Amino acid sequence: MDIFTPLQIKHVLFKNRIVMAPMVRFGFPTKDGEMQDKLILEYTKRADKEIGLLISQVISVSPTDNLSKDVTTSGYAGAYSEQHIPYLRKIAESCHKNGSRFFAQLGLAGYAYGDIHSKDINKLTTNELAFICNQFINAARICKKAGLDGIELHGAHTFFLNMVSSSYSNRRKDRYGGDLTDRLTLVKEIIDGIKEFSANNFLISYRMGWCDSFSEDIETAIALEQIGIDILHVSHGIPANRKINTPPDYQYSDIVYTGCYLKKYVSIPVITVGEIKNLERGNALIIQRACDFVAYGRPFLADESFVTHSIGNMSYKSCFECHKCKWFTNGENCPAQLLALSPISENILLKKSHKKL
Ligand SMILES: Cc1cc2nc3c(=O)[nH]c(=O)nc-3n(C[C@H](O)[C@H](O)[C@H](O)COP(=O)(O)O)c2cc1C
Ligand code: SF4
Repeated sequence: MDIFTPLQIKHVLFKNRIVMAPMVRFGFPTKDGEMQDKLILEYTKRADKEIGLLISQVISVSPTDNLSKDVTTSGYAGAYSEQHIPYLRKIAESCHKNGSRFFAQLGLAGYAYGDIHSKDINKLTTNELAFICNQFINAARICKKAGLDGIELHGAHTFFLNMVSSSYSNRRKDRYGGDLTDRLTLVKEIIDGIKEFSANNFLISYRMGWCDSFSEDIETAIALEQIGIDILHVSHGIPANRKINTPPDYQYSDIVYTGCYLKKYVSIPVITVGEIKNLERGNALIIQRACDFVAYGRPFLADESFVTHSIGNMSYKSCFECHKCKWFTNGENCPAQLLALSPISENILLKKSHKKL
């Protein structure tokens, strides 16, 4: 088994273990929550590039960020109206034509633990949270209607669902607060609602943010599996500044370490992410069965053909971690994109292993 080995989950077949991680490109404003052609192209031009699963940038389940009258989703595209079906369908069809799968990542703007501009989840009434729950379910329904292969709930990076599930930020006294099981009530209600129509050809991934200890990480991952998610995607969470002591000779990031650690406690497929950087390193994780999928973010910004260049020409434009993309206004500003291709000898091995398949 290696990074190019297909994987079937329920009725959805992934042609390989390579995932394009969700990445917002702020520079292409949306009108009424619809993606404009330029942004759609950011996906469709990557859809034929040997990617098993493309996950969209976070997409808003609501036209407003806080149940207020202001129509603002911090520049997110939306999946809260039937009018969003065409743009989602366009990307999904483009992926399917090339044997790739497409999930939309769903989230709610306006909430980020530790950010002074964040709304407070504790100020929402029980009815308002139940309303938001229905917005997530409705967004998933729209994605299914558009022909997507699934959705990913954004429960990481300190954002809305991460805040609701964390003991740091959730001090609610109603059914949405309390111990871990209670704090995951909202996630459970969302997933139960989606399962009413999802069937076996529409999957639910959950991007889980790490907690403050491995024991809580394990408890959370197991609870999410029991709630019924199909894929566990592990990233950073609350506390954002958690320090993890990885073994001294460990070659990957602390996020990858956490994902691979949690893989041992669940039976559903696990996606790891975070500075995996090249296909060789991702391939090693899959060969060791440390995880089931490897996700790459910046490598796909630096070189939209990151995978095909890696396996075909033995070269690609590698991200040199300037961190400029954190506040991108235009993905084309990535300086790596301007570089000429340079040979990367380590990918010769990968080319051989890909040819075998
Ligand atoms: C420009 C940019 C936008 C991002 N937007 C999102 C997002 O919408 N949702 C999300 O969960 N993560 C987002 N991320 C995080 C990535 O999905 C990924 O976890 C991170 O870049 C680490 O992977 P990498 O080292 O391969 O880049 C973003 C990252 C970048 C660089
Ligand atoms: S080179 Fe810089 S801007 Fe481009 S993907 Fe890497 S970190 Fe982001």
